[in-house]
Amino acid sequence: MHSFGYRNGTLHCESVDLDALAEEHGTPLYVYSKGTIIDHYRRLAAAMNEVDCHICYATKANSNIAVLNLLAKEGAGFDIVSGGELFRVEKAGGDPGKCTFAGVGKTRPEIEYALEKGIYCFNAESEAEIAFISEVAGAMGKVAPIALRVNPNVDAKTHKYISTGKSENKFGIDFEVIREAYARAAALPNIQIKGLQMHIGSQLTSVDPFSEAVEKVAPVVEELKAEYGIEFFSIGGGIGIVYENSLASGDISWWNEHEESPLTVEEYAARIVPTLKKLGLKIILEPGRYMVGNAGVMITEVLYEKRGSAKVFKVVDAGMNDLIRPALYEGHHDIVPLKEDNSGDTEAVDIVGPVCESGDFFAQDRELPIVQSGEKLALLSAGAYGFVMASNYNSRPFPAEILVDDEVAHVIRPRQTIEELLTTEVIPQ
Ligand code: LLP
Repeated sequence: MHSFGYRNGTLHCESVDLDALAEEHGTPLYVYSKGTIIDHYRRLAAAMNEVDCHICYATKANSNIAVLNLLAKEGAGFDIVSGGELFRVEKAGGDPGKCTFAGVGKTRPEIEYALEKGIYCFNAESEAEIAFISEVAGAMGKVAPIALRVNPNVDAKTHKYISTGKSENKFGIDFEVIREAYARAAALPNIQIKGLQMHIGSQLTSVDPFSEAVEKVAPVVEELKAEYGIEFFSIGGGIGIVYENSLASGDISWWNEHEESPLTVEEYAARIVPTLKKLGLKIILEPGRYMVGNAGVMITEVLYEKRGSAKVFKVVDAGMNDLIRPALYEGHHDIVPLKEDNSGDTEAVDIVGPVCESGDFFAQDRELPIVQSGEKLALLSAGAYGFVMASNYNSRPFPAEILVDDEVAHVIRPRQTIEELLTTEVIPQ
C-alpha cells in the first residue's frame, strides 16, 4: 500500500498537494510518505509473527535520519554497511545493539567504531575479514560477535548488478566450504560465533528463489546451532516492489482486476516461515526497498521540449545525478504529471535530464500524457536507492527531501546550495 494518488485534480502524498509543495520548495524534490513506511514495517512484522522475527532495515536504501528515526521508533534494528551508516543510526536514535554490519570491505576504524558501540553482529564476507576482525577486537580487549555470510549459489533472477547470491558474485563465502570456514572462525581467539547470514539479491519479484535458498541453507543452520549454539539466521533483504503501474497498485482493488500480482509479504512469509519456524532461532530480515521504495517520489519540472527528427525530448530539471537507477540498471520508474490528465491523449517521448551524458534519461520512447514546459512530473517509487545514490556530478546540488505526515510536510533536508558544494575545497597557496 502507498499513499500517493490524485485528489481534486492534483497528485497528493497523504493529504499534501504535491504541486503546491513543489511550488514552495522547488524541484527536483524528493517526497516521502511517513504512513507508507510505517504501514510497510508493520505489515512485514505481522506477516512474520510466527517466528521470532527481527527487522534490521537496510539503511542504505534511504538513510535520511528522519526515516531512520521513524523506523527506530517502530522498534526496528538496522543493517549497516559503513561507519557512516552507524553514525546516522545513532544520530537518529537507533540502537547500535540492534545493528548488523554487512559489507565486503570493512576497515579498521569502522570495526573499532562498531565494537566500541556494541553492535549486535558483524556479518563477515570472507575468512580474511574474520581474521582481521578478531585481531582488531583482540587489540581492544574485546570479543567480536560474528555471523558468516553464506553464498548459497541460488539464482535470484533479478538484474545482474543487484544479484548477489551466485558463486560468481563477490559476496559471501561459498556454500560448499561454509562449515570449514565456521570451524576456522571458531578457533580464532576474539570471535564469538553468533549466527549465519545470507542475501541473494535485490528486487526479487518471485518468492521461489527465497524459498530455494532458505531450504538449501536451513540444514546448515541446524548443524551450526548444534555445534556453536548460534542464535540467529538472517535471510537478508531483497523483497521486490512494484515499479510499473505503481500508482494504481497502491489501491489493492487494482490487483484484483489484473492478472499479474506483486510479491506480497504475506506470500513471502507463508512460503518460508514453516521451515524457519522449525529452527527455533531468531530470524533477521534486512529489507530496504520494500520498506521505503513505494513510499517516495521525485518531482521534477519540464524545462523544454525538443522535437528532433527521430524523437520528442522533454528536458526536465532533474538528472541522473539525482536519480541514477534508470541509467545504471535500466530501472523503470513510472512518470505521471502532477496535474491529473484524464484526456487520454498521449505521445511517445524521451524524458531526459540536463546532465551531459547520453545515459541521462528517465524514460525512452514512453507513451506519456502531454505536458508543457513549466508543468511538473513525479517519478514514482523513488523512495529506495534514490536520494542515497545522488551525486553532485555537473556541480548540481542535492535536491531537498520532505517527509509528509498526513497534512504536514516536514523538510528533512533542505536543498543544498551551490556555496555548500564548495565549502570543503581548497586552492593550494
Ligand atoms: N542486505 C544486504 C546484505 C544487501 O546487500 C542489501 C542490498 C539489502 C539487505 C537490502 O536489499 P533490498 O531489500 O533493498 O532489496 N541500488 C540498487 C539496489 C542495491 C541493493 C544492494 N544491497 C537498486 O537501486 O536497485
